[in-house]
Amino acid sequence: MDYRNILFEVKNKIAFVTINRPDKLNALNNETLSELNSCFDSISTNDEINVVIITGAGEKAFVAGADISELNKLNETTGMTFSGFGQGVFNKIENLNKPVIAAINGFALGGGCELAMACHIRIASEKAKFGQPEVNLGIIPGYGGTQRLSRLINTGRAAELILTGDIIDANEAMRIGLVNKIYKPEELISKAVELAEKISTKGQIAVELSLKAIVNTNNLSETDGLKLEAELFGKCCSTEDFKEGTSAFLEKRKPEFKKK
Ligand code: COA
Repeated sequence: MDYRNILFEVKNKIAFVTINRPDKLNALNNETLSELNSCFDSISTNDEINVVIITGAGEKAFVAGADISELNKLNETTGMTFSGFGQGVFNKIENLNKPVIAAINGFALGGGCELAMACHIRIASEKAKFGQPEVNLGIIPGYGGTQRLSRLINTGRAAELILTGDIIDANEAMRIGLVNKIYKPEELISKAVELAEKISTKGQIAVELSLKAIVNTNNLSETDGLKLEAELFGKCCSTEDFKEGTSAFLEKRKPEFKKK
């Protein structure tokens, strides 16, 4: 599929989605968000993809936020629609049936930080910078930031970042749990690929159902979450992959999973 604002490539069961507006620090305009929306729709039904890596083009930015030139024209009604659309795209990423790794190569501000938080795993370059600077523009985070940041790093830390608009570096982001690991800029993509390849060798039904259970911790009480876990565990036990994985262990060989 052809996109104007993102690059899309599949290699060895790994999809690479690169936001490609480096002259605007990969700011998310409406067209880019729409392309991301279609791209993730097609990824969800593509059996040639096990894992997705999302990153930003150029040296400077992952995504420097929503496109401020488009924000500037919003009113109360269109603002709500704008926020709802971005939330929908990021919910689609969070609820994808395949893991999404954010390889954060530079500025992840506003919508960029929110995009990273909608991904399942975040790794960053030493040069990455994070923040929700929307208060500087007289708005609040609108693509899920108030919710996901609060859950990810706790409400006190989220309040400090959102209310001050402060920008933090990769070390601080790792210290507070916003990213899992930090790498030298030139190693970031190869480390993301290493991680994606490792996940890609596992039973893909188990990977998908693990994600479903993990993502749903946000929506369910612990009791309902545990019910869902038992249901999904049972589902795994009905698969050929489960028979293969357990037999391979007992026979001291490597499993050959078939996603069946
Ligand atoms: N929306 C639209 N354009 C943006 C943008 C955004 N969120 N972030 C950067 N750009 C554009 C700049 O306008 C500039 O375009 P121009 O060359 O046509 O003037 C280009 O990207 C480069 O940005 P610049 O500001 O010159 O780079 P810098 O290195 O001096 O500063 C930042 C980098 C990230 C600190 C600065 O660009 C910034 O503060 N961006 C906005 C961040 C933000 O508030 N995001 C949340 C939005 S809700």
